[in-house]
Amino acid sequence: MRSVSLSVIDMAPLFGADPSRRAAVAGAIGAACRDSGFFYVTGHGIAPRLIGRLDSASRTFFALPEAEKMEIAMVKGGRAWRGYFPVGGELTSGKPDQKEGLYFGSELGPDDPRVKRGLPLHGPNLFPARPKDLRSLVLDYLEAATRTAHALMEGIALSLGLEAGYFYHQYTANPTILFRIFHYPSIATSSPDWGVGEHTDYGLLTLLAQDENPGLQVKTSRGWVEAPPIPGTLVCNIGDMLDRLTGGLYRSTPHRAKNTSGRGRLSFPFFFDPGFDAEVRPLPERASRIDDDKETRWDRQSVHGFSGTYGDYLLAKVSHVFPDLRRQVI
Ligand code: OGA
Ligand code: NI
Repeated sequence: MRSVSLSVIDMAPLFGADPSRRAAVAGAIGAACRDSGFFYVTGHGIAPRLIGRLDSASRTFFALPEAEKMEIAMVKGGRAWRGYFPVGGELTSGKPDQKEGLYFGSELGPDDPRVKRGLPLHGPNLFPARPKDLRSLVLDYLEAATRTAHALMEGIALSLGLEAGYFYHQYTANPTILFRIFHYPSIATSSPDWGVGEHTDYGLLTLLAQDENPGLQVKTSRGWVEAPPIPGTLVCNIGDMLDRLTGGLYRSTPHRAKNTSGRGRLSFPFFFDPGFDAEVRPLPERASRIDDDKETRWDRQSVHGFSGTYGDYLLAKVSHVFPDLRRQVI
């Protein structure tokens, strides 16, 4: 396995107004997206202290007795699909993953129109009684990461020759936001299991904070490479909707994770996706030259072939990885 060959991009200029510095960042993002679809960012604006506190609160939670963690089990989150799932509770590549996790998203109250309509995956979060500060840390992280994601989408728009606000106006003024905290127990190198099996992410963009333990692997055109932790960075990767939008120019790259470090590994994926009702269409200049890779994709499914809203796409995917929950809530 090769070690890091993914670029590290300082995205700070995307929070500023200097056109040439913004264009330079966009150029680097565009090159990374055309190459592996995975890159690291610094200058992302999320305070290290917030990430550090979230990390320690999460560790405290995962160290609690199983029965206490199950007090906020996902089945209690109802249609919003929030809460805790134990090791083996999620099946990414059709096999149970060797991870436990907490599933969060935008905090939406009963008056939110999407909650009133009964849309699955929308609603209030389930927070544990202990540790008490996990709630505010998660909500602060969601706010900070949302700002980062909007800025990065501006960079991605510029990298495609679009105006900076393109994605905001078309898809992400009301984004679908999901956030998860994973704990991967260490497993043997010889184990046939994975912490999370090979997959692509479903939406536009994923921002991943990871602790100091390696485990993430990315399938590039040069083969599988490691994406080890680099302090102060987030790992950024493209999801199926950006693959679809760009007609395959920016690929949603398969990845997987296996923790063999001997210590528990924490990761914090933040998924920044189109609004649930959005119908994602290819950019006009890409529509006539779609490069479909379904024959070689991990799931043999085309991201270019489906019709419907992002919500339809996401629900089909999520119900595949949580089959029991699907039976109970939709
Ligand atoms: C994911 C994912 C990788 C990790 O949640 O989609 O790929 O390291 N996570 O947790
Ligand atoms: Ni992923």
